[in-house]
Amino acid sequence: MKPQIAVVGSVNMDLIFKTPRMPVPGETLMGHSFHQVHGGKGANQAVAAARMGADVHFVACVGDDVNGQSCLQALAQDGIRLDHIRVMPDTATGVAGILLDDTGQNCIVLTTGANALLNEADIAGAGNTIGQAKLLLCQLETPLNTVVHALHTAQQANVKVVLNPAPAQSLSDQILAQVDYLVLNETEAAELSGLGVTDVESAAAAAAKLQQRGASVVLVTLGALGMWVAASDASYFLPAFKVEVVDTTAAGDTFVGSFAVAIAEGKDLRSACMLAQSAAALAVTKFGAQTSIPTREAVELQLSKK
Ligand code: RIB
Repeated sequence: MKPQIAVVGSVNMDLIFKTPRMPVPGETLMGHSFHQVHGGKGANQAVAAARMGADVHFVACVGDDVNGQSCLQALAQDGIRLDHIRVMPDTATGVAGILLDDTGQNCIVLTTGANALLNEADIAGAGNTIGQAKLLLCQLETPLNTVVHALHTAQQANVKVVLNPAPAQSLSDQILAQVDYLVLNETEAAELSGLGVTDVESAAAAAAKLQQRGASVVLVTLGALGMWVAASDASYFLPAFKVEVVDTTAAGDTFVGSFAVAIAEGKDLRSACMLAQSAAALAVTKFGAQTSIPTREAVELQLSKK
């Protein structure tokens, strides 16, 4: 039986410029090429969860434009259920402008478009679906009050919550206390904890602070280094898989979506983290957001070779 996962989040069309390096303010730089790829943190995490084998119900908003149609088509191809996606008239779908340099690093500028319109009524409309899910997965590219409403809906129904607080913004202790698994990168951990996060020690300190503020399990991802896992009974470091970096876009989303499925399947925390690390490592070896998210088969194969 596939575990049922509810994802509340964003949908974007990614407009990607490949560039030799990042431009500086005022500079015009000749890029290598331009690409259009389906993205958005919510959609990417939904796709990752679907490719890992979950039955995914996605709650989101798109515009009635070509980008929205194309994003919905792509989600449907991954078998994601779209009953709770609202198509807003006279509204643009979210767009992300992405610069990707030769080292595989990126810079992203977002215009939220229809994502900003996802509201509490959308969550209420999906209330039964969230209540019946094994797990709820949220990020912060949609309005915070909508996310809070979703967390509350899940909590009322005893549904576990995974929150990826990206893009980073400060969150109250009350919100953190509603989160079972907080999954965040260095930047987000620094923003939420108020501590600089540059290495394993500082990641551990930030995770401990976020636990004190109410989050149950805190996972701080540290890119090529690995990740810090902080649970109530144990805290430890897991090294990353060594891979050739092509594009880091959506590696975090791949981690989060895969982790959610592993937890929903009942895997223990360490195994869930390792499956997610394997998925994220494969994602950085390919270009783009949803174009880079691997299948369960590929993820398990890499894991078996570790
Ligand atoms: O996390 C990667 C995603 O961030 C991209 O797909 C882009 O749409 C932005 O939302």
